[in-house]
Amino acid sequence: MAQAQRQLASIDVSDPLLYQDDSWRPLFAQLRRDDPVHYCETSPYGPYWSVTRYDDIFAVELDHETYSSASELGGIQVADQPKGQERPNFIRMDPPGHTAQRKTVAPIVAPSNLANFEHLIRERTCTVLDSLPRGKVFDWAERVSVDLTNMMLATLFDFPWQDRMKLTWWSDVAIANVNSPDAVVHSEAERTAELVKMGEYFRTLWNARIDAEPSFDLISMMAHSDATRNMETREFIGNVGLLIVGGNDTTRNSMSGGLLALCENPAQFELVAARRELVPNLVAEIIRWQTPVLHMRRTARRDTELNGRKIARGDKVVMWYISGNRDDDKIERADEFIVDRARPRQHLAFGAGIHRCVGDRLAEQQLRILFEEILKRDLRFEIAGPVKRLYSNFIRGIRALPVRIVN
Ligand code: HEM
Repeated sequence: MAQAQRQLASIDVSDPLLYQDDSWRPLFAQLRRDDPVHYCETSPYGPYWSVTRYDDIFAVELDHETYSSASELGGIQVADQPKGQERPNFIRMDPPGHTAQRKTVAPIVAPSNLANFEHLIRERTCTVLDSLPRGKVFDWAERVSVDLTNMMLATLFDFPWQDRMKLTWWSDVAIANVNSPDAVVHSEAERTAELVKMGEYFRTLWNARIDAEPSFDLISMMAHSDATRNMETREFIGNVGLLIVGGNDTTRNSMSGGLLALCENPAQFELVAARRELVPNLVAEIIRWQTPVLHMRRTARRDTELNGRKIARGDKVVMWYISGNRDDDKIERADEFIVDRARPRQHLAFGAGIHRCVGDRLAEQQLRILFEEILKRDLRFEIAGPVKRLYSNFIRGIRALPVRIVN
């Protein structure tokens, strides 16, 4: 094999270090150009395909009969779920199970309910922004991103307010890469033990709500629906975990990634400050730019072909949203942060097809309000220390973002 081909064959984009040190761009650019559906034979997670171009990712998303999300086939991450400790939930299901369970929770993020949330989200956002120190360094990730998403999540579950930080903790536990030295848990057993505690806590809430009149929160909605009423323990933990991580880590990292992007692109900050009607575009661009969920994985249910490559039944197929969102063939000047794009919502950060993010509009709403309120206050920020990124190949996370308000 020629040296160039050997180099190409050896590319393994599942290495979490690439995302912790933010060095993934050249590798994906090379794959999109030279080997868009790339086979990695040896990785810590076994062999897998990487789908790196926008259109190919879309094709996989839409063909859920060939490309399965099923928990029993390994689920939705390049890392298989540990055998015997699988936690099925509706993101790790195919139809018809997926359809019924998704339908149960979807009304919480229906447009009419989002309109009800608007005032509450704005009020909380104002309180958080007005409490920030002026001229002193603070951690935006902790003071703003974690706090705001945590409060939203507590509202969605109607969760006991004083205990609400447990939600952020369980979310961190659920997505932790146990091999990272600074992970919040260091083994699958430790993770399972924490998530069992989460299950017990939620069971108590569930038992109280199943005996009460139905109310409009995620626990009551699941307790009173035929599709979710009788979940066994692991599926119960799985679904609660899905809703916690779904609503938490993604929005949180968009709030941090967004501020970072604006600080790194001050001309774009000034553009949106001068033209506030661009805020919805800004929000879509932030979500594309950050791509908080790096990948979703599927498993081929049959032999098939994708962009000329033969994929065998049982193969792992990983859709790298982070790469599709930098595909110049689809998104003009994809490597630039541009707040006035003509089609800003054309990105893959929310996925596509039957599993497309159920909370997309809620996430956009939270971000829109945050940036509207920042602009109303005419705040400007500077980065005041090293950005700390998460060691993960699944969530593109920012764990610390030291900043200072400069006016
Ligand atoms: C910027 C914020 C967010 C991003 C980038 C994001 C991203 C994603 C992605 C990539 C998927 C999988 C799509 C696919 O497989 O095609 C997904 C699914 C999901 N998300 Fe989000 N998400 C965000 C916010 C939220 C919020 C706020 C909630 C909850 C209220 C939420 C709940 C879910 C759920 C329940 C699923 C599973 C849907 C299904 O399997 O049918 N997400 N999200």
